[in-house]
Order: sequence, then C-alpha cells, then structure tokens
Amino acid sequence: MKRIEIATLIQSEEFGKEVIVMGWVRTVRISKNVAFIALNDGSCLKNAQIVADLSVIEPTVFDRIHTGTSLKIVGKLVESIGKEQINEVHATAIDVLGEANPDHYPIQPKKHSLEFLRENAHLRFRTNLFGAINRVRHHMIFAIHKYFNDRGFYNIHTPIITASDCEGAGEMFHVTTLNLNNIPKTQTGAVDWSQDFFGRETNLTVSGQLEAELAALALSKVYTFGPTFRAENSNTSRHLAEFWMIEPEVAFSDIHDNMDLAEDMLKYLVQYALDHCAEDIEFLEQRLINEEKSKPQNERSTMTLRQKLRFVLDNTFERLTYSEAIEILKNSPDQKKNKFVYPIKEWGADLQSEHERYLVEKHFKKPVILTDYPKEIKAFYMKQNPDGKTVAAMDVLFPQIGEIIGGSQREENYDKLLQRINELGMSKKTLWWYLDTRRFGTVVHSGFGLGFERLMLFITGMGNIRDVIPFPRTPKSAEF
Ligand code: 4AD
Ligand code: MG
Repeated sequence: MKRIEIATLIQSEEFGKEVIVMGWVRTVRISKNVAFIALNDGSCLKNAQIVADLSVIEPTVFDRIHTGTSLKIVGKLVESIGKEQINEVHATAIDVLGEANPDHYPIQPKKHSLEFLRENAHLRFRTNLFGAINRVRHHMIFAIHKYFNDRGFYNIHTPIITASDCEGAGEMFHVTTLNLNNIPKTQTGAVDWSQDFFGRETNLTVSGQLEAELAALALSKVYTFGPTFRAENSNTSRHLAEFWMIEPEVAFSDIHDNMDLAEDMLKYLVQYALDHCAEDIEFLEQRLINEEKSKPQNERSTMTLRQKLRFVLDNTFERLTYSEAIEILKNSPDQKKNKFVYPIKEWGADLQSEHERYLVEKHFKKPVILTDYPKEIKAFYMKQNPDGKTVAAMDVLFPQIGEIIGGSQREENYDKLLQRINELGMSKKTLWWYLDTRRFGTVVHSGFGLGFERLMLFITGMGNIRDVIPFPRTPKSAEF
C-alpha cells in the first residue's frame, strides 16, 4: 500500500479505509488511554490528526515520539467529531522513522523569533510559517512561467557567468580560478586575467537583460528567470546578494507597452496567489495581524494582507514622470515636516524607498509607475529622450516595498548607444556583440526586471527579504 499525502488525506471521506501516513510530528499529547499526534508532511498547512488507543499501540513507543520525530502511521480513516477536521486516523501501527531529541531539537511548538529561525534555516521549513512561504513561492514561480507561456513568450537561459556589467554599478562578484595567494600580474602590476580560467576577467551576472535583448531581437518575446548577484553592501530588509529576477524583453514594444505588460503581469500574479494559495495566504494574513498588534498604534497598517493584495488588483497604476514626482515630493507635508531621512534637494537626486513609499502609500494611494528619469542615475542602455536629459526608464513602485520593478525602453540607435558607452567610459570592446544588434536589423524594444523576492515580500506580507528565500545570501552571511 502506498502512502497518502496529508493534503489528500485531510479531504477524504472514505471512512473505514486503511491508510499509511508519513510525516513529522508537530505536537503530541498523551492522556491515560489515548494519544493524539498532529502530523505534518508539508503537502499543505494542515496537520493530520492521529489518534492512538494505548490498548492497541504499545505505550512505550511514545517515549520516542516528540515534536520533530518522523513517523510512519498505519491506521483507519474515521470520521472526526472535532470541528477542526473532517477525519482522523486511528492508528493500528506506529513506526518511528527518525527520532528528534527534545533536549536538542530547536524547533518547538511555540513562537520562535524570525532571527532564531534564520539561524536555523536548515530546520525552519518545518514551521507552519516557512511551509506556507515556500509553498506560495513555488506557486508564484509556476505562475510566472504560465503567464509568459500563455502569451507566447519564450524562456531563455541567460548566462550566470559573464564578462559584462549590465547595470554599470560595479557591484559584481568575481569568478576566478586564479590562486589568490599568488595572483599573476602583468608588467604594469595589474592582475593578469589572461591567465584565468576564461582568459579574461569574469563575474557573476547582475542581470540577464543584455543577452535577453539578443534573443528578443529574433524571437520577439522572451523572458529570463534566473539567479542574479549583487555585491552591494546594503544590509537592508529589501536587498539580497543573490536573488532571482524575472526579465521579459519584447521587440516592437515601446515604454508604454512595457508599462502595460508590467501592470498586467503583477495583477495576474497577485490574483494567482489569491486563487491558488488561499489557505497559506489566510495563515500569513493572520500572522501579520498578530504582528501588527505588537506595534504602536500609529505604526500599525490599516490593511490586512488580502486588502493589500486587492489594493493592487483594484487600482489602475498611477503613471507619471520622475520630474512630476520630484515636484510632489518637494511640496509634500513629509518634506516640509522634515520626515524624510533624505530630504529631496533638487531634480536629479535618486529616490530612496521612503520617497517611493510616500508616493504610493500617502499621495496617490495606489501603485505608481515613474518614467523618464535623469540619465545620470540610470544605466547606459536606456532609450535617450529628445530632451537630452532624461531616459525612457520606468520603475514600478509598490506599497511597503518601494521599487519592485525596474525597466526601460532600450536605446536601439547605434550611434546614440555608442556615444553613451563612451561617455560613461565603458568598454566598447566587451560589448561589441550587444552593439552589433543595433547594426543589424535594429528595432524598438523594451523590457524590465521584477525582483522575485520583492514580489514574495509583497505577496506574503513578510517584512524581511531574508525570510522569503530559502537560503538568503547577505553581507557576512552564507551559512547553509
Ligand atoms: O532595477 P534593476 O537593477 O534593473 C535591472 O537589473 C535591469 N537590467 C532589469 C531589466 O530591465 N531587465 O533590478 C530590477 C529589480 C528591482 O526593481 C528589484 O525588484 C530587484 O530587481 N532587485 C533586488 N532584489 C533583491 N535584492 C537586491 N539587491 C536587488 N536589486 C534589485
Ligand atoms: Mg532599479
């Protein structure tokens, strides 16, 4: 007989049927004649309710059963009189598969802090919270592929090891096999990369965009969904050194089409979560309600998780230019009352998440798409606007998160692109292949990058990005 998964078991009304259930003990409670075990196998949030009559099951076996113990239960499915579940399993045999000594097993049936669980990331999957987060994460990954597949996009694997810096921010991890204790040098004293594995300097990619563009300029509609790496030393609740990014790239598409795609995709993903992760979202919503209770009254969110998700679905995203946003921010009550940590000084300043959140949460009260940023604060590849000062960039701003998407129309004009590369002192030599697409059959095209963990923060209502990726990589932290 095969094991039945708990997600299936808890819905079954085949009372009287013999079943085999396996999983990890969440709680165990023993009274005089009977023991109750809540068993979880991760297939869903809920536990199977196991009832063991101590005249049927040898009582000494319970000396070995604690939270975290793995069990194989053979038993009969019986209608439950409890309100919590429709059935329970009356055990006829219990096999202890793996013990978990309660003196050493760190995950106990009580509230653990998120910090503690981060230190025990190898076991935190076994909590209700991390089970829920990781199931939602899976559904979101699937939904992203479904969204693009249903719309005729092709998935392209872009390289993880590259020789280019797409964003030009220099926040890259080197990839090398050179002996770090004896680095070969050129006559001028620089590192001699020609002796390295690839015969040149290489790094982990910060974005798959440049290669996705090459594919889009042949397959029309493509997307990449891969890991990206940034060696920026920002220890915030929204930054990871290793994160996953969804990057669609579309030929014959301008910045307006690009905004339409971004808004449509985000709404699709939020709706998908509501439709396919109802039980876990409800659990996450309750967690958030409990957490808000511990905050001072004036800092509490007035919206529940599902209301926040609906906030995205029910509103048309506000679209305005960076310049318009600067005016709003300069004249805002928060600026005048000195509430911004970084007050807006003048046009040209990069926006901080506090400004982005002000626009979304206080001013417009809806998601916002800002366009036409100063070219100095954006990457080299963005389409230059006729004003000579701005580029056709677009950032999508969300409540709680700030920037969730960054994208642009791309500069498709060879001369202008080359001029910008030169202005920025970038190497034309390493980007010859990128420039080539502007020499041969160039077309208007656009794309964007959605930070997958930023999306996960929003969907789950979690506050720290370290909790929505199974194994976070952040400055000074690469355990597990
Ligand atoms: O705005 P970014 O840097 O844009 C690009 O990389 C473009 N090449 C994308 C494109 O047009 N194809 O990053 C895109 C998104 C951000 O909006 C943010 O959601 C996320 O990636 N992101 C991060 N997420 C977690 N940790 C970090 N350190 C992140 N940096 C960016
Ligand atoms: Mg950005």
